[in-house]
Amino acid sequence: MLPKLSAAILLLLSLQSLAADPATLYQQHCLTCHGNQRMGSMAPALLPQSLERLKPGEILSVIRQGRPATQMQGFADRLSAEDIQLLANWLRQAPSEVPQWREQDMNASRVQYLDPATLPTRPGYRADPHNLFVVVEAGDHHVSVLDGDRFEPIARFQSRFALHGGPKFSPDGRFVYFASRDGWVSQYDLYTLQMVAEIRVGLNTRNLAVSSDGRWVLAGNTLPETLVLLDTNGLKPVKTIPVKDRSGKLSRVSAVYDAAPRRSFVVALKDASELWEISYREDAEPIYPGYVHDYKMGEGLAIPGYLNPRVTPLDMVLDDFFFDTRYQHVMAASRDGSAQVINLDSRSKVATLPLDGMPHLGSGITFEQDGHHLMASPNLNSGRVTVIDMDRWQVVKQITTPGPGFFLRSHEQTPYAWVDAMMSPRKDTLFIIDKRTLQVVRELTLRPGKTNAHVEFTRDGRYALVSIMESPGELIVVDARTLQEVKSLPMMKPIGKYNVYNKVNRSEGTSH
Ligand code: HEC
Repeated sequence: MLPKLSAAILLLLSLQSLAADPATLYQQHCLTCHGNQRMGSMAPALLPQSLERLKPGEILSVIRQGRPATQMQGFADRLSAEDIQLLANWLRQAPSEVPQWREQDMNASRVQYLDPATLPTRPGYRADPHNLFVVVEAGDHHVSVLDGDRFEPIARFQSRFALHGGPKFSPDGRFVYFASRDGWVSQYDLYTLQMVAEIRVGLNTRNLAVSSDGRWVLAGNTLPETLVLLDTNGLKPVKTIPVKDRSGKLSRVSAVYDAAPRRSFVVALKDASELWEISYREDAEPIYPGYVHDYKMGEGLAIPGYLNPRVTPLDMVLDDFFFDTRYQHVMAASRDGSAQVINLDSRSKVATLPLDGMPHLGSGITFEQDGHHLMASPNLNSGRVTVIDMDRWQVVKQITTPGPGFFLRSHEQTPYAWVDAMMSPRKDTLFIIDKRTLQVVRELTLRPGKTNAHVEFTRDGRYALVSIMESPGELIVVDARTLQEVKSLPMMKPIGKYNVYNKVNRSEGTSH
């Protein structure tokens, strides 16, 4: 009996070593860099949420060949083709045990590089601190700070892996805050050109918003499904709010916004038909924990009731938003193209909008024409820019463009709005729309065959900065009147650039 049993165990053991188990392969070859439970450490997280945006086949090719000029080396010479395939499939699956990220993990991750109390009160350079551009270079995970008068870089530093959502500025334009895909929030000082503090608030983060009084940062996570409120003084976590809907079901956050005139944050949810508003007005009517949901309070800190979410029930999941300038109304779209207008005061739907395709409200702009307040936004799956009259909530024009675009940009000082066609074969061309006639008046191809996209204007609107989103790519300065190229700077896939003045003053020609 006994020898039989041990023979069976031996057989089992040898079978196991033959058919490689991906978890074991991970432990042997990947864990040192990619961390426990694939949560990331010196290398990025490898959870399904982390890898969502990789192109099909990319996981496989990265494991096989590695990534040039990084620590990620190819494993083709060390692992069999089957093992690499096994690993690639396994990385797409959720771990059996849901990885946690609690307040103690956040606190342990927090790094304070500089004491904010000791920072000088003036910039240490000559450039206009309000005409700086912060350029996010995704190609090698760096950020460049550009003098917007001379178009010269004044700083360049390594960022956390895969920044997204667009950086946000403190109301005085001094600090810039970044959120990374893997949950890092970074605070950078544009006066001393140094990092102030960083903290990891989650394992997968959508974006962040900074309160208009400069006191708070709110980060929205998809893993775990939480909102994390940070004190900007030291980036200390003050409160974690689990995102649960009316029925108690968890939802990922799709975006957080600062509604400055209301002094509140607005939160869009990806899996729940609710819209949340969190007021940071000290005199706001408090909503106590347990009133709407059961919220966990920040550890060891007494948080006033006014920082609790107020819920607007929706009739469907809506996760792409555009606010009117007073933040009284919000236009909201679902992924299938249904769109409606919600009044944030009455917390109810006031109009439906006949939009189809996949409107990209998040990249909308506003402008006035003959006394009408118009809003325009591109469409992610059809070549058009939709113009909506915000006084009547009606579509006044569909401007046809040669292909679906992502970003639409303008400025108070220019009659033109610029849209790309980066989701189409015409990705190398920008289309210039006259805001007075709502017609495409020019086409601009700065670098044929390459992605020309994401325009941002200087604070005076005289120049438009365009990204050539390649690695290596460029940032091209164009005279906004003559459309002549003025200068080109080498950049590694500059996915976005943000002008301090236009962002802080909420220019109607750029998104916020
Ligand atoms: C020596 C450290 C190191 C080891 C060991 C390592 N990696 Fe990586 N890996 C990295 C780094 C650094 C990156 C980020 C590269 C970049 O900047 O794009 C990366 C990126 C990746 C990516 C792309 C992630 C993304 O979001 O773009 C995948 C997939 C990946 N690694 C899988 C693996 C697997 C599977 C193993 C084990 C077989 C492994 N890696 C071992 C350091 C490592």
